[in-house]
Amino acid sequence: MMYNTFMDKIKKNQQHKVKILDMTHEGTGIAKIDGFPVFVSNTLTGELLDIHIIKANNKYAVAKPLKFYQKSKKRTEPFCDVFHRCGGCDLQHIKYEEQLIIKKQIVESNLQRIGGFNDLLVDEIIGMEKPYNYRNKAQYPVNEGKIGFYAKKSHTIIEHDKCLVQDERVTKIIEYFKNQEISHIKHLVFRIGDDKLMLIVVSNNRKPFFDIELLIATFPFITTIVLNYHPNETNVVLGKENITLYGDGYITDQLLEISYRISPNSFYQVNKVQTEKLYKKVIEFAGDTKNKTIFDLYCGIGTISLTMAKDAKKVIGIESVIEAVNDANINMKENSIDNCEFICNKVEDEIINLYNDNIIADIVIVDPPRKGCDRVLLDTIIKMNIEKMIYVSCDSATLARDLKILCDENYKVLNIVAIDMFPHTKHVETVTLLELK
Ligand SMILES: C[S@@+](CC[C@H](N)C(=O)[O-])C[C@H]1O[C@@H](n2cnc3c(N)ncnc32)[C@H](O)[C@@H]1O
Repeated sequence: MMYNTFMDKIKKNQQHKVKILDMTHEGTGIAKIDGFPVFVSNTLTGELLDIHIIKANNKYAVAKPLKFYQKSKKRTEPFCDVFHRCGGCDLQHIKYEEQLIIKKQIVESNLQRIGGFNDLLVDEIIGMEKPYNYRNKAQYPVNEGKIGFYAKKSHTIIEHDKCLVQDERVTKIIEYFKNQEISHIKHLVFRIGDDKLMLIVVSNNRKPFFDIELLIATFPFITTIVLNYHPNETNVVLGKENITLYGDGYITDQLLEISYRISPNSFYQVNKVQTEKLYKKVIEFAGDTKNKTIFDLYCGIGTISLTMAKDAKKVIGIESVIEAVNDANINMKENSIDNCEFICNKVEDEIINLYNDNIIADIVIVDPPRKGCDRVLLDTIIKMNIEKMIYVSCDSATLARDLKILCDENYKVLNIVAIDMFPHTKHVETVTLLELK
C-alpha cells in the first residue's frame, strides 16, 4: 500500500516499527513507511525501532522513538537529564567522533544541495579534545517562576540541575536565583573571560531589586553585575540600556595573546579554545599579509582585525553595533596597535562608500551572522575584484548560497575547513578560502 493521498496518510498517534534509512542535515533520523517519509527525533541510520507519530500531514510525518530493537554503534548515552526536552543540544546521543563526521557531511551536503558544488569537500573538521563546559556565554530565560532553557521550537522553559556545556560557576548562580524573587527578571545572561564573570540581569524594572551584596558575598568570582533594562516584548534578549551595579560593566579575555574588552551588547565567539583554532586558520588562509590592506567585515569587537594587524599595512573593520565598535577602538589602543580603523555602519552600506572612494583591499574577510552576507555586499566585493577572500560562517546553508553567487562570477573556492565551535549541537563553523579565478 502506498500512502500518497491525503485520506490514507499516516496519522497522528499511530505506532509503527521502522528502520532509520538516513539522517537529515539537522541530525534527525529518516524512516519510510511504504514510501512515506517519517522524521524520527534522536535516532541514527540503521536503527530498528517502534515509533509514535506525533504529527502528520500529506507530505511527511514526525515521530518520536518508543522502543529500540537494534541500536547504532554510533549511539552513546546522553549526559543530560533533559536532553529529550531541552532545545539546546541535538546530537548528545551520538558519540563525539561521529558528531564530527556528521557535521562535515552537513556542510558538504549544503554545498551540494544549495550551492550546486558537486565536488567540493571539506578538507578537515577540527574538534575539541574536551567537548564540555566550553561556553563562555549563557542566556537563561526566566518566566512564571522558572529558569532554564527553551524547549525545541517553543518558549516553554525546561528547568535542569546542570548543563554540561556551560561553565560550572553559571550553574551555581542559577541554583541561587531559583530560590529568589525572580518575577522582574526576563533573562539571566552570563559572559565569562579570563578569571572574569559578568552577570547581566535583564529586567523590565530599571531599579535594582535584588541583594547585590549577598550575591557578591556568595559568589566572589562574579567580577561585575549589570542590570539591563528591557521593557519591550521582543525576541531580542538584551535591551539597549545597561546600568552597572557592581564592577566595571564589562569583562576582558585573551585570544592569541591579544586582550579584549567585551561589553554586554558586543558579540564575542562563545568557545575560546575553538576560536583560537579558527583565527589560526584565518591567519593561515590569509598567507603573506605584509603591506596588504585587509577588510574585516562584520568585525564585532575587532578580534580578527587585531589578530591580522601585526603584519598588514592596514585593517578596516566594519560593524553595526556601536558598543562593539567602541570596544574595538579601546582594544586597539590597549594592545598598542595603530593600523586598524573601525567604522560603525552596516557593511552593505559602508562597502559602497569604500568602493565609491576607491578604497579597495587585497584581502577581504567576512564573518556574518547566520543569515549570511547581504547581496549588495557580495555584488560589491565581486566588483572590487579583491584578490583573496576568507569567509567565516556559522551557517553552512547561507554559506553555500553566498559561495554560489561568488563562484558564478569571479571567485573560486580553494579550501574549506570546519571547526566544531558548538559540540553536541547541530551547529558548525567553517572557514572558506576563495581566490579570483
Ligand atoms: C558572527 S559575528 C562575528 C564577529 C567577529 N568577526 C568575531 O569573530 O568575533 C557577526 C557580527 O556582525 C555584526 N553585524 C550583523 N549584521 C551586520 C551588518 N549588516 N553590518 C555590520 N555588522 C553586522 C554583529 O553585530 C556581530 O558583531
